This record gives sequence, C-alpha cells and structure tokens, in this order.
Amino acid sequence: MANQPTSTDKAKIAIFISGGGTNMAAILYASRLPDAPYDVVLVASNMPDAGGLKLAELEGIPTYVHSHKGHSRSAQDAAMEQAAVQAGAQYLVLAGYMRILSEEFVRRWDGRILNIHPSLLPKYKGLDTHARAIEAGDSHAGASVHVVTAELDAGDVLAQAKVAIALGDTPESLSERVKLAEHQLYPRAVADYVSRGSDPDFLFAKLRGLALALPETHERESHGSPGFRVGTQKTGKYFAYFSDRHHGSEHIALLVKTSGMDELLNLVETQPETYYKPAFYGASGWVGVILNRADLDWDHIAEWLERSWRATAPARLTKLLDAADQF
Ligand code: GAR
Repeated sequence: MANQPTSTDKAKIAIFISGGGTNMAAILYASRLPDAPYDVVLVASNMPDAGGLKLAELEGIPTYVHSHKGHSRSAQDAAMEQAAVQAGAQYLVLAGYMRILSEEFVRRWDGRILNIHPSLLPKYKGLDTHARAIEAGDSHAGASVHVVTAELDAGDVLAQAKVAIALGDTPESLSERVKLAEHQLYPRAVADYVSRGSDPDFLFAKLRGLALALPETHERESHGSPGFRVGTQKTGKYFAYFSDRHHGSEHIALLVKTSGMDELLNLVETQPETYYKPAFYGASGWVGVILNRADLDWDHIAEWLERSWRATAPARLTKLLDAADQF
C-alpha cells in the first residue's frame, strides 16, 4: 500500500501503567495495524504486579518496573523518565498510571504526555468518577483523552467518548463499558496526536493563529497558496505564505523574507533540515522554513513571522509593536 509510515518515521511512545493495562493492550495492538503512525517502545509501571506487564512481555515489548514505594515523587519520575528516554520514547502515554507527575517532569515533556481519564472532562476530575456520575444522576459517563499539564486532568481535551449510564449501573458495571469505549478512543487519539506534525490542516491552523495575532494583518490567497499581509486590504503587502508541498516541494513550509540572498543561502546550506530555497520566491530572498519536522519549535516560527512582518510593515505599525514590546 502507498504512503504507509515506515518504522523510521513512526513516533515512538512509552506507555505508563499501574493496573490491568487494557488500554495499553488496545494501543499496542492498534500499533500493529498497517497504517499505525506509532510504535510502542516501552511499557513501564510503578506496580511490580501490574497485570499489563505480562501481556507486554508476551508481545515482546520491553518493560520496566520501578515501585514508587519508599521513593519521592521526583525520584520515581526520574527513574521512569530515564527508562523512557533510554527506550527512545518521544511521547509518554499514561494508561491507568495512578501517580501524579511532578511539575518539572511535565514541563520537560511539555505537549508530549497524553492521559486518558474516565469522565467527560471538565466534569469529575480526580478519583471515583463513575460513582460521582451515577450519584449526580447523569445520563452519560465517558472518557477523555487529554494533554497532560501540571494541573491535574486540566490539559487540552483531544477526544472524548460518551457512554450511556444504565438504570442500576454500579461504578464497576459502568467502568467496564467505559473501558470498551476507551479502547476505541485512545489508540485513535494517540495516532491523531502523533501525526499532527505532518497534518497540513493542523500546521496551517497553528500558523494562521500566529500570523493573524500580529498587528493589522489579514489573510489572502496568492497563486493557490494562503498568504498573510500587513496593512490595509487595499494596500497591504505579503509578509508570509503557507506552502503545502507547492511547486513540487516535499515540504509543508512557512515562506518568509530573509535579509537577502546571502542569508538565504547560508541558512539552507548550514541547516538543510530546517530551511530550503523555495521555487520562484527563493529568487527574491524568501526562505522556506520547514514545518513538517519532528523538532519544530513554534516560538521559532513566531520569531520568523514577526521578523518578516517587521521587514514589510509600514513604520507606523513597527513603532507600535516596538512600544508594546517595552512592556
Ligand atoms: C481506565 O479506565 C482509565 O481511564 C483510568 O484507569 C483505567 C485503567 O484501566 N484512569 C484513571 O483513572 C486516571 N486518573 P486499564 O489499566 O485497564 O487500562
């Protein structure tokens, strides 16, 4: 089949568990389907007898155990982190991992830790979610996959599955059905999340947000590509373009102005994994900043946008930005 991810461009994920590991199993088996964009490189647990460890071993996945008993939170996190790093993990996927992670750990893995929580967030953060949903008389319970941030169960929700609550449900009976839904939800949410760095819609939405946050900007198409202009609708000038594999290029990229051909050629020569000389625009000193790459840093993209905006905007606007920057 065409366009299937190869093992070299698949994202590497480590799964952390504390219990039965049925979500881990769902994610692991989904990773073996032909078009899966991720590989499971490690299953790690804070509970030596976590049932999921056996299944992972049986399936030939490296496992790691570090009991949290007698260890501080940061020591526990450091041990788990070291195992994940050694296994080459790029993302951490928490699947019933019942330890709260330290703030420093979460910061180091900013945007690269996912969790599944058995409620329709923002409802019922924390424990006993099913009992609380039944007690409240809710018609539905469910599960949410979210990005992990320092605040418990509060990061961006990526996907949710709703599960009807039956008359006479107990927390246990409800939990069983919620898990069935989780097993559908989590592998797909992980796949979507690790793939979004090569998804032009995601990249463009993010870029548009940054470009239009600059003063007096608007969007306008140019030769089939979206572009961003500064100034009025009538007299504005382009300071950035979005290129989705345009003119035969393999890259999804932001095109911005450099100071001239010397800088452009220097960037392309010294950092070919980040920059390229785009067709047509390259001739007038525009550089392509590649967006579909693993180490993309959005602050770096924002800096290029602002620089190109400054090189294009009329003085009355750059002065405004300078004044705002002083605060
Ligand atoms: C899952 O239902 C998951 O949502 C929940 O633990 C269960 C783990 O089951 N997670 C939390 O409560 C996190 N606060 P599993 O070990 O069979 O995947």
